[in-house]
Amino acid sequence: QPSQRYEAETAPAVCQGTIDANHAGYSGTGFCNGSNAIGAYAQFTVNASAAGPVTVRIRFANGATGARSANLAVNGIAVSTVSFESTSTWASWTTKSVTVTLKAGANTIRLDPTTAAGLVNVDRLDV
Ligand code: GCU
Repeated sequence: QPSQRYEAETAPAVCQGTIDANHAGYSGTGFCNGSNAIGAYAQFTVNASAAGPVTVRIRFANGATGARSANLAVNGIAVSTVSFESTSTWASWTTKSVTVTLKAGANTIRLDPTTAAGLVNVDRLDV
């Protein structure tokens, strides 16, 4: 299917934090600044025309000095841990690709921070 874009600030996406727009370069109207806490996740609902593997491109910025990691869950089941390297500044955005298996129809994709540093800033998914 053609790639679909899912903005972190657009429902039914959920951001356990604030939707901010203070660091330039995001798409849409803002990005998810997850709270700096365990449990502060960002969740997207993505649609698949058929069951099977897809590439998910996660656009993010990480102005902290070190990487931050998140557990990636599909439909509530943790499938991998993704490391989001520093991008040097909060206005430097880059994309991380992961492959996940979806079912046909609506699927949730959730990023759950592994430490109390929380998530990087998350702009969008392209699936
Ligand atoms: C800074 C930055 C935020 C970011 C936060 C963090 O406060 O301005 O956009 O989310 O650091 O450490 O997560």
